[in-house]
Amino acid sequence: MTDRKIWRDGEFIAWEDATVHVLAQSLQRGSLAFDYISVHETPGGTAIFRLRDHIERLATTCRIVGLPLGYAVDELVEGCAETVRRNRGAKSVKISALIPSIEAELIPENPHVAVFIAAYDSERDLAAPNAEIRRRRREAVSLKIEREKSGRREDVIPPHAKVAANYTAAMTAKWRARNEGFDDIVLLDERGNLTEGPTANLFMVDGNGELATPPASKVLLGITRDSIINLAPAAGLECAERDIAADELASASEVFLSGTSAGVWPVVRIDGQQVGDGRMGSVTSQLKGIYQAAVLGDEPAFEHWLHYI
Ligand SMILES: Cc1ncc(COP(=O)(O)O)c(C=O)c1O
Repeated sequence: MTDRKIWRDGEFIAWEDATVHVLAQSLQRGSLAFDYISVHETPGGTAIFRLRDHIERLATTCRIVGLPLGYAVDELVEGCAETVRRNRGAKSVKISALIPSIEAELIPENPHVAVFIAAYDSERDLAAPNAEIRRRRREAVSLKIEREKSGRREDVIPPHAKVAANYTAAMTAKWRARNEGFDDIVLLDERGNLTEGPTANLFMVDGNGELATPPASKVLLGITRDSIINLAPAAGLECAERDIAADELASASEVFLSGTSAGVWPVVRIDGQQVGDGRMGSVTSQLKGIYQAAVLGDEPAFEHWLHYI
C-alpha cells in the first residue's frame, strides 16, 4: 500500500481511505467525471502541464453530464498543486468528480459531487505487473480500425465529456482488438470516418505530406492534441482538422497517437499493414521532440503551459 495522500473535498486523507461504496450513484450509473494530468521535473522546478486547461475540461464534462460541481476552477487548480506538493515524486494527477450517495432513483436527491485528487507515480504506486509490455506498446503501436460498427454515439453523450460512461464501448472494442493481437484500436463515427482511440487522439501525415487529425466535433478535446496543433508551426507544419475516411490511413506515410500518458507515440502497423517503413517517421519524431521540450519548459513561447507548484 502506498503512503500517498489524497485530496477529498479539501482535506487530505490516506490513500486507502479514498473509497466509495459499491452502491454509489456514479459507480452504478457511469457518471464519474475525471481528468488525468502529467507532472514533470523541469529546470524551473516541479510543474503540472496545462493544469488549468485540464480542470476547465473537467468542469466542461460536469456541465455536459449535469453534475453540479461545487468548486470553482481556481479552487481545483490549487487543490491539484497542493496535492502534488504533498506527494513528492508524483508524475501524474488524477482528479475525479462523482456522486457518492446511495439512492434508488436515477436522479439523486443528494446531488453532492465529491472531488478526489490523487497525485502518484503509476510505476511506484499502482499495480503495474505489465509495465514492460506497456512501455513497448508505446514505442511501436499495432493498430486496428474498428469496422464492425461505430463505437460512438455523440448524440447520446458527446465525446467532449471525459465521463466513465463514455469508456465502456471503447473498452469493449479495445478488448476485442487486444484479443486479436493488436495493441490499440481507432473508432469510427457513424459515417465511417476516423475519430480517436479509446484514450488517445489520432494524427496522420497524409498522402500529400500534410499533417491531419479528425475534427474537434468528433473527439475528446485532448490537451496533447491541442498542444501538437499549436506546436506544429515550430516544425514548419500546419495541422488540418478534417474528416478522414478510414481507408485514407492506408496511404498515410506516418500515423501517431497522442495523449497525456505517453505524449506522442508512433503507429507502425494498421490492420496488419506496415505504415511507412515500419518505424517512427521524421514528422512524428520531430513533433514528439517538440512536445517533450514543451512539457519540460524548453520551449520559451509555451512556458505559460507549465504550472509550477
Ligand atoms: C477518449 C480520449 N481521447 C483522447 C485522449 C487524450 O487526451 P489528453 O491529450 O488530454 O490526454 C484521452 C485521454 O485520456 C481520451 O480518453
